[in-house]
Amino acid sequence: MFATGVTVVTVGGDCPHGMTANSFTSVSLEPPLVLVCVDQQAIMHRSLIECGQFGISVLAAHQEPVARHFANRRRPLGAAQFDAVDWVPGQVTGAPLITGALAHFECELWRSYEGGDHSIFVGNLLSVRREPEADGVLFVRGRFRQLDRDTAELADGVPAWQAAARGGVTG
Ligand SMILES: Cc1cc2nc3c(=O)[nH]c(=O)nc-3n(C[C@H](O)[C@H](O)[C@H](O)COP(=O)(O)O)c2cc1C
Repeated sequence: MFATGVTVVTVGGDCPHGMTANSFTSVSLEPPLVLVCVDQQAIMHRSLIECGQFGISVLAAHQEPVARHFANRRRPLGAAQFDAVDWVPGQVTGAPLITGALAHFECELWRSYEGGDHSIFVGNLLSVRREPEADGVLFVRGRFRQLDRDTAELADGVPAWQAAARGGVTG
């Protein structure tokens, strides 16, 4: 029911990994902090603890296939999972940042807290880049949606013809 944007959390280094997450939230302005909640069973959980630094890519409206890819437990692991997407290494952390995203953040892990079967990872921002003209993909009622630019109404996600034309990631 609760509409959110969709992000991909990434770590670089020796064991690069990415995971789709919609629990991303801003926390504090001073210091600049954000958080993401990660399932303790997720590979990303130990990746974040081991790496201590991470990237966040806020996905643009056309990037639903990217969200599906990094949520798919059958995707390849390690560096190979990034073969399906365009990305650049973050200048500060080296974490893969998804090309075409609405915004990129690079963070160092500031604190982590237990939250039931998830952990709450709070990151201190090291770098921010945003794309002011782009729209984001939304996750509402368990479905990927977009806001129609003209009417501001909810529209279905990536039209089939667009997804096919883009090829690459199908999730
Ligand atoms: C839209 C969407 C949002 C998600 N948000 C989260 C999240 O905030 N935290 C989380 O732990 N998993 C989240 N997931 C599930 C993970 O992306 C999925 O379980 C993933 O395969 C776990 O990756 P890993 O175990 O390889 O790290 C989300 C999935 C989708 C489709």
